[in-house]
Amino acid sequence: MRHTEINELLQSEPSLHEVIVRGWVRSFRSNRFISLNDGSTINNLQCVVDFSSVEEEVLKKVTVGAAIEVNGLLVESQGKGQKVEVQVSGIEILGEADPEEVKLTILSPKRHSMETLREQAHLRIRTNTFGAVMRLRSKLAFAVHEYFQKNGFYYMHAPIITGSDAEGAGEMFRVSVLDPEDLPLDENGKVNYKEDFFGKETNLTVSGQLEAETYAMGLGKVYTFGPTFRAENSNTSRHLAEFWMIEPEIAFCDLDGNMDLAEDFIKYVIKYAIDNCGDDLEFLENRLLQEEKSKPQAERSEMSLREKLRFVLENNFKRVSYTEAIEILKRSKPNKKKKFKYIIEEWGADLQSEHERFLVEKHFKCPVILFDYPAEIKSFYMRLNNDGKTVRAMDVLFPGIGEIVGGSQREERFDVLNQKMETMGIPQDELYWYLDLRKFGTAVHSGFGLGFERLVQFVTGMGNIRDVIPYPRTPGNAEF
Ligand code: 4AD
Ligand code: MG
Repeated sequence: MRHTEINELLQSEPSLHEVIVRGWVRSFRSNRFISLNDGSTINNLQCVVDFSSVEEEVLKKVTVGAAIEVNGLLVESQGKGQKVEVQVSGIEILGEADPEEVKLTILSPKRHSMETLREQAHLRIRTNTFGAVMRLRSKLAFAVHEYFQKNGFYYMHAPIITGSDAEGAGEMFRVSVLDPEDLPLDENGKVNYKEDFFGKETNLTVSGQLEAETYAMGLGKVYTFGPTFRAENSNTSRHLAEFWMIEPEIAFCDLDGNMDLAEDFIKYVIKYAIDNCGDDLEFLENRLLQEEKSKPQAERSEMSLREKLRFVLENNFKRVSYTEAIEILKRSKPNKKKKFKYIIEEWGADLQSEHERFLVEKHFKCPVILFDYPAEIKSFYMRLNNDGKTVRAMDVLFPGIGEIVGGSQREERFDVLNQKMETMGIPQDELYWYLDLRKFGTAVHSGFGLGFERLVQFVTGMGNIRDVIPYPRTPGNAEF
């Protein structure tokens, strides 16, 4: 007989049939009640032991963290909180866990800080919080694919190793097989990358956009969903050196269409989580409520986690131009009272996350799409507006998160793009293929990038981005 997953059992009726379950012991009370979890759900299965049917020697090994197999009858539960439980007729210890050693880990049943959990990232998936977050992460990833596949997009795999810098920001991890102790030099005494693996300088991709653009100009609508890497030294709760990005790219689509797509897409995946991850969301919502109790009233959020998610679904994202946003920020209290770290003095200033969060959380109190940014603070590939100084860029800003999406209508005019690359010092010879798109059947096209971890953060309410990816990579940390 095969074992059954706990998720399935908890949803079934007491059948009085023999079942087999396997999982890890969460607790064992009074030598009688085993709480078993197998990861299929946040909920534990209660297994009630009848001493006469299980040997003393075996019971001793039923300890927190141990992997066991239980067989018994699925009966109506006598206790509160669950419909069914297992009346144990036999236990097999699959993998022991020494209580003395467990005590020293996060598996021990007491409160551990998020920092401690991070240090034991190989075990933290056994906690309720990480189980819930990672199940949600998986469901959200599925929803991403479902949305695009249902809407006629093709999944395109952009390369991980590239020879180009898609953002032109120079924040790349080098990929090389050269021996750092014995570098080959050219006649000018510079490192000779012709002798490297690819015969040129290469790096990990910062974005699949440029390659996605080439595919949109053949398949029409594509999206990427893969890991991206940034060697930026940002130690914040919203930055990772390795993160997953979703990048749709659409031919014959302008910035308005791009905004519509971003809003529709985000609402779809959030709705998917609400509809399919109720138990995990409920757990995370209560977790947040607990956490907030230790905060002063004024800092507590007005809405619960699921209220926040529903709020996003039910309200239009507010679309505001960069120029309007600057006016609002200039007149704002924190700007006048010099409460912002970066005071907004004039048009052209780059927006910091404190400004983005002010707009979203204090001023508009809803998700905001900012568009038409100054060309100078945005990437080379964005389409220049007729004013000659702004580009068709958009950022979607979310409460508690700040920027969740960055995108634009792309510069489709060869001469304008070529000139722009020239002035911004982007190597045209390296990106000849990107320029080629503008020579052979160019067309209006647009796309955006959504940081998957920031989305998971928003949906789960987790405060730190390191806690929504299994093994976070950040400056100074690549453990596991
Ligand atoms: O705004 P970004 O840099 O845009 C691009 O990379 C474009 N090529 C996307 C496109 O148009 N196809 O990054 C897009 C999003 C950000 O809005 C943010 O959500 C996320 O990627 N992001 C990060 N997430 C975690 N850690 C980091 N270091 C991130 N940098 C960007
Ligand atoms: Mg951005």
